[in-house]
Amino acid sequence: MIPLFKVAMSAEAPAAAAEVLGSGMVGQGPKVEAFERALAARVGNPRVVTVNSGTSGLTLALRLVTGHRPASGGEVLSTPLTMEATNWAILANGLRIKWVDVDPATLNMDLDDLARKITPSTRAIVVVHFAGYPVDLARLEAVLDRAEALHGFRPPVVEDCAHAWGATYDGTPIGAHGNVSVFSFQAIKHLTCGDGGAMALPTPELHQRARLLRWFGIERSADRLSNPPDVAEWGYKFHMNDINAAVGLANLDTAERALARQRENAAFYDAELAGVAGVELTERAADRTHSFWIYPMKVEDRAGFVKRMNEAGIMASNVHERNDKHSVVRGFAADLPGLDAVAPRVVCVPVGWWVSDEQRRHIADTIKRGW
Ligand SMILES: Cc1ncc(COP(=O)(O)O)c(C=O)c1O
Repeated sequence: MIPLFKVAMSAEAPAAAAEVLGSGMVGQGPKVEAFERALAARVGNPRVVTVNSGTSGLTLALRLVTGHRPASGGEVLSTPLTMEATNWAILANGLRIKWVDVDPATLNMDLDDLARKITPSTRAIVVVHFAGYPVDLARLEAVLDRAEALHGFRPPVVEDCAHAWGATYDGTPIGAHGNVSVFSFQAIKHLTCGDGGAMALPTPELHQRARLLRWFGIERSADRLSNPPDVAEWGYKFHMNDINAAVGLANLDTAERALARQRENAAFYDAELAGVAGVELTERAADRTHSFWIYPMKVEDRAGFVKRMNEAGIMASNVHERNDKHSVVRGFAADLPGLDAVAPRVVCVPVGWWVSDEQRRHIADTIKRGW
């Protein structure tokens, strides 16, 4: 079976982890600092703070932008088409979710619906670069300008970049566009630490708060004997350790090669599948580069499509279920016609770095033969 996911572990990673394991220093130390410098250089934002998962990063990001204390009420505008981690981070902060519809062309948040739903109760907006296709950040800025003119404030934005390591918008990497951005380096992401994540912060103040709150609110560099640091704001235990950081450092170049290959595979599918009956591809805009963590498209008779793919030795799945149907968020139900139209049709086929020339040809031909 050609898998949808595979772990992108470099040949150097085991030795890098072993070196840390034998060093006597396995907590947050020099490898974390080195990994943060390397991430910052690639994102083009010096304010990078690693964490132990994307979920921790999202939880902390919402805490940073919605106030000094969680559980203080208000609503966060978010997309239901994502991994549950995006939205459960809102609940973990004691905030309500207000669903924004999904744009069937991009599978990202529908920015017109977002504009309609911003009110004085909006505490933050969470957008997801779904599959690694960047949200139209210039249009998002225009929506915020309009909100500011209408309501007298600019809601803060958290970008969930879990799928989007390596993606760019308007020539600039995702993570350097003026919002709090959160990456995931979980097991099957094209940059993996085993588990891990990173936040890219837009200001020195948010950078400093993120550094403190990922580890109890304590300044780790302070001299605790002669000058014990005060904790002015309580924090979490969300820091990354040197074992995961060493693995991430050893995988950085592997991730670059993975990105290049998944883009090649996606370009092949784009060319092969354009105009195929029963298949609709997602949008591609010239001002963005996609990371193609997954290759979503829209098909008629999805169950039949998946069955046909499986028979041909190809895994296929929608990967993420719409989040708004879970009973835990029943109270936030909303009319979402764009999502209703598209959710039953979204399906992904293998696109990653492991997919060979012969395999991608087999996948495209199988789709073209119909199901
Ligand atoms: C869109 C999205 N957000 C957040 C996360 C959470 O990341 P992590 O698994 O690193 O906590 C994921 C994980 O797959 C994801 O796909």
